[in-house]
Amino acid sequence: MLLQIKVYLITVMYIFGALFMVLFPPRNYEQSGAKRRTVRSLSADLKYTQYVDYKTLLEETKRIAGDDKAVAQAVYLKPTTFENRSLIALELHSDRQSKKPGILVVGALNGMAWGAPNAILELADKLLYDSNYQTPFFNDYDWYLIPMGNPDGLHFTQSLRDSRPVDPLIWSRNMTARNKARPSHWHKNVDKENANETCFGTNVNRNFAYHWQDDVHRTPERCSQFFPGVKPFSAREAQAIRKYVDGLGQMIHLAIHLHASFVPKKEFILYPWRYSTRQQSNYHKLQDIGEYTARQSRLTDGRLYEVHQSSNDVRVAGSLSDYLSGVVGVDLVFLIKPYHQPFPNSTDFSILDTYVKKSVSTMLSVVRGWRSSTRQNTLSFFGRDVEF
Ligand SMILES: *[C@@H]1O[C@H](CO)[C@@H](O)[C@H](O)[C@H]1NC(C)=O
Ligand SMILES: *[C@@H]1O[C@H](CO)[C@@H](O)[C@H](O)[C@H]1NC(C)=O
Ligand SMILES: *[C@@H]1O[C@H](CO)[C@@H](O)[C@H](O)[C@H]1NC(C)=O
Ligand SMILES: *[C@@H]1O[C@H](CO)[C@@H](O)[C@H](O)[C@H]1NC(C)=O
Repeated sequence: MLLQIKVYLITVMYIFGALFMVLFPPRNYEQSGAKRRTVRSLSADLKYTQYVDYKTLLEETKRIAGDDKAVAQAVYLKPTTFENRSLIALELHSDRQSKKPGILVVGALNGMAWGAPNAILELADKLLYDSNYQTPFFNDYDWYLIPMGNPDGLHFTQSLRDSRPVDPLIWSRNMTARNKARPSHWHKNVDKENANETCFGTNVNRNFAYHWQDDVHRTPERCSQFFPGVKPFSAREAQAIRKYVDGLGQMIHLAIHLHASFVPKKEFILYPWRYSTRQQSNYHKLQDIGEYTARQSRLTDGRLYEVHQSSNDVRVAGSLSDYLSGVVGVDLVFLIKPYHQPFPNSTDFSILDTYVKKSVSTMLSVVRGWRSSTRQNTLSFFGRDVEF
């Protein structure tokens, strides 16, 4: 009798189990509309072992978009830069049937962030080809990647890499001081519009039209590394990004500006506002995701990123992140600044390796932090969040 009841009970439980599977099937590719893709587990080694220059970026984005037409597209942004290069956006969509939350990543607006294009191409490679990153990262989002926001600036600094450093203001003002020398820092592009014969270049990340010039400083002079342009959107890089981002509009839910810190042991995860100490309405959410990210992507020497509103350190007006937040209306915007040597030894791979691995892990942790903050696809088991 007791045995029979047990058998019945077990049968009933099996039937419920089967019913549950039918009613709430596990997420699968058919359902999400995603194509089954050939992917492999990549090794931890980096695919790009040299600083990616514009030519390599052109070739690689073309190759990726050519190999995988169904999921990857290369978009050439207009207008082109002062030296006639197009900013390139690489778009990754796991399927075309459904619109997914969009993630925008922009790198190397700064002329010295040589490693940022590497990090973003490396991220694209993982999303596309590494089975460890398919779910959740590739399948649940549409990705819009701009690996090199300032190709002219990068080309300029890299072409001078072997010269002797001199103070940037002296370099800019004094033609004789330029002989076999380079500016020790260069944050700008190289446009020569509204420039006299010596000073040139606009700081692209000061040129966006949201509270442009509305910070505590007087207008920096033309020679300064922080020259914000003669008017908002005078820099073509800023125009190109604006046009592209405005076209995407409401599709972007999360935006990451992959920047670099050029000061050792000063590494940051920041969020708007940058121009003002006023707080965003979703201040707590941004801080929480930032702290989660910092814990998940602990720095190589065991330190944590510093996480806070950007203007806590210094007020900066006209930046990309404020524009994305204030004008485009992106809910979550983060500025990531891992340490990057200025003018690093370009044959010393370990320097590049450190920046790239740190950046990729931080970008993915921001996405994880966002998921855990929205409790998307997570279940609580005895107080522990388990992602599925
Ligand atoms: C800019 O580049 C494009 C494509 O490479 C070329 O067709 C065009 O003539 C160039 N324009 C200038 C002003 O050099
Ligand atoms: C310009 O630089 C050269 C070489 O460093 C120096 O001799 C000269 O005095 C500088 N001129 C001015 C006006 O500072
Ligand atoms: C170029 O402009 C800068 C800033 O306006 C000024 O300091 C510099 O003297 C000018 N140089 C010449 C050669 O006019
Ligand atoms: C750059 O790095 C390479 C490889 O680590 C090393 O052999 C070379 O001496 C370094 N060059 C400089 C200028 O430090």
